[in-house]
Amino acid sequence: MARRKKIYEGKAKVLYEGPEPGTFVQYFKDDATAFNAEKKDVIEGKGVLNNRLSEFFMIGLETIGVPTHFLKRINMREQLIRQVEIIPLEVIVRNYAAGTMSKRLGLEEGTRLPRPIVEFCYKDDSLGDPLVAEEHIIAFNWATQQDLDDMVALALRVNDFMSGLMYGVGIRLVDFKIEIGRLWDNDFQRLVVADEISPDSCRLWDIETGQKLDKDVFRRDLGSLSDAYTEVARRLGVLPSNATHMPKPTLIN
Ligand code: TYD
Repeated sequence: MARRKKIYEGKAKVLYEGPEPGTFVQYFKDDATAFNAEKKDVIEGKGVLNNRLSEFFMIGLETIGVPTHFLKRINMREQLIRQVEIIPLEVIVRNYAAGTMSKRLGLEEGTRLPRPIVEFCYKDDSLGDPLVAEEHIIAFNWATQQDLDDMVALALRVNDFMSGLMYGVGIRLVDFKIEIGRLWDNDFQRLVVADEISPDSCRLWDIETGQKLDKDVFRRDLGSLSDAYTEVARRLGVLPSNATHMPKPTLIN
């Protein structure tokens, strides 16, 4: 196969030039990182699971009219996406307190919030993705007031969709992060869900037992991350339970 041009390599994914202008190929790696990449490991099969899960969520969102960057899955680890201009913000929606919100506000993990709360973090690894207020976003011109209103509306629609989907398979959506991109159509811009939606960027707890089925399993050394993600995929009917443990291909002489 011809060598493709690498556009960008992140912690969990690589972006390559796509087959047509305005497209990229998004490749899902097996690398797991936490605490701003201070903790690292390779989790065999994670990329395959996240590729399938992200495809599943993005197709579902499109079906209910929430625009995304997703075009189609190409193979086990790659998907074709639309090239968008990423807004440099992590958009977080929280239904229950956990993680940094629990620390910041002294709330016990699992405390139900009075309503979903949308937070923004400025995307900058060297600063550790600091929490920012809408005032910062507008003053520093990262997004306009109209963009902000649209981002909140988009994030809340994703929250309703994901919460309902997860509830149907006995999982509580505690919180999640999305990234949002601008898609240009001549002078007209649309905001779309970009990047990925996967257990890497959500907190997912079993409703009955409270068992964690997300990246906290890795962050907090709670067991096998690939078993947790496989369980999410299995419950959603995305993968047969053994599909990520397929043997590697062997050369036939
Ligand atoms: P948060 O509790 O703020 O941070 P941490 O995961 O470090 O405890 O995260 C809230 C949710 O957003 C959680 O599901 C993880 C996700 N998230 C990311 O995936 N990437 C990020 O850079 C940030 C800030 C959050």
